[in-house]
Amino acid sequence: MTRTPARAKTPFVFPKGFLWGAATSAYQVEGSPLADGAAPSNWHRFAHTPGLVASGDTGDVASDHYRRYREDVKLMSELGLNAYRFSVSWSRVLPRGTGKANPRGLAFYDRLVDELLAKEIQPFVTLFHWDLPAALEDRGGWLNPDIADWFAEYASTLFRALDDRVHFWATLNEPWVVTDGGYLHGTLAPGHRSLFEAAIASHNLLRAHGAAVRAYRANGRHAIGLVVNLEPKHPASTSARDRSAALSSEAYMNRQFSDPVFRGRYPKELRAMFGEAWPTPEPDMAGIQERIDFLGVNYYTRGVMRHDPESIPERASRVRQRGRVHTKTGWEVYPEGLTEALVRARRRYGDIVFYITENGAAFGDPDAAADLVPDSARVRYLREHLLAARRAIEAGVDLRGYFVWSLLDNFEWSHGYSKRFGIVHVDYRTQKRTPKASARFYAEVIRTNGAALDVSARTALPPVPFRRRARSPRTAQPSRRR
Ligand code: FCB
Repeated sequence: MTRTPARAKTPFVFPKGFLWGAATSAYQVEGSPLADGAAPSNWHRFAHTPGLVASGDTGDVASDHYRRYREDVKLMSELGLNAYRFSVSWSRVLPRGTGKANPRGLAFYDRLVDELLAKEIQPFVTLFHWDLPAALEDRGGWLNPDIADWFAEYASTLFRALDDRVHFWATLNEPWVVTDGGYLHGTLAPGHRSLFEAAIASHNLLRAHGAAVRAYRANGRHAIGLVVNLEPKHPASTSARDRSAALSSEAYMNRQFSDPVFRGRYPKELRAMFGEAWPTPEPDMAGIQERIDFLGVNYYTRGVMRHDPESIPERASRVRQRGRVHTKTGWEVYPEGLTEALVRARRRYGDIVFYITENGAAFGDPDAAADLVPDSARVRYLREHLLAARRAIEAGVDLRGYFVWSLLDNFEWSHGYSKRFGIVHVDYRTQKRTPKASARFYAEVIRTNGAALDVSARTALPPVPFRRRARSPRTAQPSRRR
């Protein structure tokens, strides 16, 4: 059989200074949630409530990153990463959420940042990746309007401690998931189910984001942005109802947070969608549209939507695409959607700076690993998505970095440890780290600044086709709505 030769044209290389990174988040990888003076977070409570997380898994040990961060940074360096996106656990730094800082908690992030910089890896810090101090949850969490001040105070503590060395800050990770999963559908902490609360929580997330950006402008010297999850929405048919379902889910998921931040107003569709649950009078948008330095985009899949009156608030639900590849979380593999999401966001919000702050997939890796985990499905996933990122750059998107989700296998929220997203395998019995084939592939992409993407995947790595018919996701736990 003849093979198509690799194309002879000059390989595309990514822009100079492109950040090649991997991402994690505190509760998902750190473990030791109560060590060194830290107090519990709402995720600690959620995971310790029987029945809420698959197999009763908790983040008590997770990938033990809190204790093994040196080994992990060494691994990053061996893979050639020049950036690492991690989040800070608010309740390590401020155990009560506000007030007195815990020096030992802060010292962990201080050491981590120094360790990274010693290996020429840029720290990219997310302030809030879903774990809220339990002490603040007791005061209403995201429903309490004071949270904007609490968050700005917490953010300022970190800016003061780390901005001399940290050049990239993100305020919130995926606020849409926090309200949809945490306040409307109850699948994530704090596990509430109220349309009324979801609207309030969203608004306070936006106010908190704005307050942290203002605090940064007062003292910070580098870049700050927001991280949203974007998922192009396509109608399942040409019917008017399905087209309108796609539009309303687009407004709900993709524009609920970025429209206020870039345009100073909510998508008008939201009021109709939320009905009585939408605050009257219109929420005050003051202080939300602060200038930000970049938009972080987390991309996993698209949504093919049909009209569904039962599904609130957007009255749309996802239609599984037959014959397409799905990951272990049941998400369709759809690389083109990454280009589409970036190009659309640029069209809507103008020439802003973008980072892909998360992209990756859970596939069926084994629990124990020998020398190599041959995760060719993930290799293929990464290659196709990196090519899609590159097409976005070619289309004019100012994309300055890419972070694979995730560096390590970790605690995947309500799925517990059942979904492995890492490019590095973690054996949870021994905590042994084993780079998967995808880590080697990614290292080669980084080493060549993207040129390796032009080498046919067939020659780069042995072809193992995606399994055609992925099993539908079956977990005891209600999954996130993606
Ligand atoms: C994103 C989250 C991240 C991880 C991936 C799989 O929505 O930001 O923490 O759970 O999904």
